[in-house]
Amino acid sequence: METVTLIGEMQSRAEELRRRGTTIGVVPTMGYLHDGHLSLVAQARKETDVVVTTLFVNPTQFGPGEDFERYPRDTERDKRLASQAGTDILFMPAADEMYPAGFKTYVFTEGLSTVLEGAFRPSHFRGVTTVVMKLFHIVKPHVAVFGQKDAQQAAIISRMVKDMNLDIRLIIAPIVRESDGLAMSSRNVYLSPEERKNAVALFRSLRFAEDAVRKGERAVETIRRGMEEILWNARVSAVDYIAFVRPETFEEVEKIDPPNILVALAVRFGKTRLIDNIVIPVS
Ligand code: PAF
Repeated sequence: METVTLIGEMQSRAEELRRRGTTIGVVPTMGYLHDGHLSLVAQARKETDVVVTTLFVNPTQFGPGEDFERYPRDTERDKRLASQAGTDILFMPAADEMYPAGFKTYVFTEGLSTVLEGAFRPSHFRGVTTVVMKLFHIVKPHVAVFGQKDAQQAAIISRMVKDMNLDIRLIIAPIVRESDGLAMSSRNVYLSPEERKNAVALFRSLRFAEDAVRKGERAVETIRRGMEEILWNARVSAVDYIAFVRPETFEEVEKIDPPNILVALAVRFGKTRLIDNIVIPVS
């Protein structure tokens, strides 16, 4: 695996690969890699000739008081894992090259970026779409792989790719979970041992919703109440939201109807904020 840090060098490598007819897959990450990220690299490996994993803790997607400073970082470990998973090029740009003095241009997807996660983290998705658009222009991928764990991010990036006519095929890969069901996330390291045990309640509450829908329940409020009970019993300190939305548009629904529904939630254990979701088919 080769490591590239300069934007111009990454762009020339990408141009050269494209000239030779080599297909490029990109897996954007903020590092502190876990099996969820590695599954994205594996997916890109299957689809393209050359896999570029990007590692950049993007300051513009963190709001004031969020965890930018303490976001977990371990570059040596990330290099080893990215390489073992099949990365050909690890692109690790510097913040002052990505956002030089005088930087003024942002990409923003309306509507989708202001609900749920966007309501709690007002500038978050503007930072995500901006950095992802920049990474697309730098890496010039044919295919980009993102995780369903960040379902709203995936929907926003899909919208951006369509709206901006980007010639990139998106793949949204399934959530990878720990053996007890907790969705893998770099932020799980913030949990105390007790919170970590209790955090299984996120998946349990989503499974509760899935079961309820399967048994014919169609009233959102009834399912939400059951989910809340599971979460509060697990001693969460806040339930930011439990939302029932259309998977592509993130429009909230009041009644569950076909063909499917996405149930997304965000909770806090102390200062740690966790998100998870499930797509439930509805007949
Ligand atoms: O999902 C993430 O880790 C980040 O939001 C992304 C897509 C790498 C952009 O910084």
